[in-house]
Amino acid sequence: MDLYEAIYNRRIVRDFKDKKVPEETLKRIIDAGLQAPTHDHLRNWEFVILKEKEDKERAFQFVKQGIEPTLEILKQTLVDGTPQQKMYAVAMPRQYSMLINASHIILPFFKSNSGVMNPTSVSSLNPLSSI
Ligand SMILES: Cc1cc2nc3c(=O)[nH]c(=O)nc-3n(C[C@H](O)[C@H](O)[C@H](O)COP(=O)(O)O)c2cc1C
Repeated sequence: MDLYEAIYNRRIVRDFKDKKVPEETLKRIIDAGLQAPTHDHLRNWEFVILKEKEDKERAFQFVKQGIEPTLEILKQTLVDGTPQQKMYAVAMPRQYSMLINASHIILPFFKSNSGVMNPTSVSSLNPLSSI
């Protein structure tokens, strides 16, 4: 595919087909991600892949709780919101459904002893920015 065609056709996707992504494709995606530059050249990253529904439900229980109280407001927003608010109302419940319905969830982890949680400068955040 042409580079510009890929750029112009890129879209956010929040609904998925009920189709398993092959392991080989996952490996290819992670391998492509590992070509990204990192601040320390180490790519000291690990990936946890969730594919079972129960594992995803357990991992994302707090996301579910977070969107539930807002659902009634969102329904009303879909009727009388501004175009921007309507887009938000469409996207909000999908913060959970897209995680649960995706074939796989790739959780990237990084090791850091340079103070990402207590940054002393912008560059303390480099491990986070890299990943
Ligand atoms: C920094 C950043 C954060 C984003 N965060 C979210 C998010 O939390 N949830 C979500 O559904 N989309 C998120 N998006 C996706 C945007 O909402 C999306 O790109 C926008 O709806 C425009 O759609 P398009 O990508 O198809 O042009 C984020 C995008 C960016 C650049």
